[in-house]
Order: sequence, then C-alpha cells, then structure tokens
Amino acid sequence: MNDLLKGLNLYLVGMMGAGKTTLGRLLAKDLGYGFVDSDDVITKAAGKNISQIFAEDGEDAFRQLESDVLGQIAAFTRLTIATGGGIILKRENWSYLRQGLVVWLDVPVAELERRLREDTTRPLLQDTGLEEKLVSLMETRYPLYSQSDLKITIQAGETPADIAQRIIRDIPSVLKNPDNN
Ligand code: S3P
Repeated sequence: MNDLLKGLNLYLVGMMGAGKTTLGRLLAKDLGYGFVDSDDVITKAAGKNISQIFAEDGEDAFRQLESDVLGQIAAFTRLTIATGGGIILKRENWSYLRQGLVVWLDVPVAELERRLREDTTRPLLQDTGLEEKLVSLMETRYPLYSQSDLKITIQAGETPADIAQRIIRDIPSVLKNPDNN
C-alpha cells in the first residue's frame, strides 16, 4: 500500500461538505502519507479564518492566497491534500493539481445540504437559500470537477472507511504512467 502512488500527491477535490478532510486523513494513514488541508494552511498564513479573509479582503484575495498555498504544497511529495471546494476554478491551479492524482468526491446536493445546514464557517453559504446556492455552485463547477483523474460517486450509507477503500482500489486504474511512476 505504501508505494501505491510512488510518492505522487493525492489531491481531493469536490464541493464544500463532500468529506475531503475526513477522507484525506484516512487515506494518508492508509497510504503512509502526510496530510495537509489547504484551508488550514491559508488560515495560518493569513493569521485569520476563511470568513475573515472573505469579509476583510474579498474572495479574489482569498483565491490568490489559495493559489499561492497550492503552489507551495505542490513542492512536496507523499501528501494527501484536502483542497478548498473552489480550487478547481483557476486554470493555473490545474497545473499544480495535475502534478499529482486528482480525486473528485461527488456527493449529491441533497446530502451536502443536510451536512451544511448548520454550518457557519463557509462564507459562500451564509445567505438564505442554501439549496439553491449549492445547486448553482454545482452547475458552474461540475465541468471543472469532471476534469479530475478519478470520480468517486458517494452512495448513501457508505462510511468514510468504505470510501477510502474504494479510492485505493480504483487508483491503479487511473495512474498516468503505471510503469514509470
Ligand atoms: C470554498 C470552500 C471552502 C473554503 C472557502 C471557499 C468554495 O473549503 O475554501 O469557504 O469556494 O467552495 P471546503 O471545501 O473545505 O469547505
């Protein structure tokens, strides 16, 4: 298991509430990798939380910080990375993501809505109309998430451990150069 990815970073992408952090931690353990949450790195670098960055500096400034942090993370190997849901928006981010393996956790909007109903930490979801907002974000982002190497459609009742095992089982089928890596 430890050399399944031969050092290649594993990037988890997907909507807010998809479970990227939970899965990232589990997969790091299974793969013998380190774990990084890009939002945590941004928070530490900025010295304030994501809501404060959005409120005080605006979304564009947040997106720039997110790209800078991704570039720093990509310099390392043997990591699983839980990215922020909007990491797929910038073309330049893909040049970093593409250096590793990109796994999309695709969770139905109804389930995301259930998980995020009480959330106060995501500035994009603080207006009323959570479901409409999630649907509209998903519409914009679906074609971008679709450019991932591996799409994992989360089914009702699947535990994080089940999902992690499914990802590990499916990785060999999408490794770019299985002979060279
Ligand atoms: C965002 C997702 C958040 C965070 C920020 C913006 C997005 O991360 O980066 O609130 O645009 O989808 P999570 O996906 O970890 O919640």
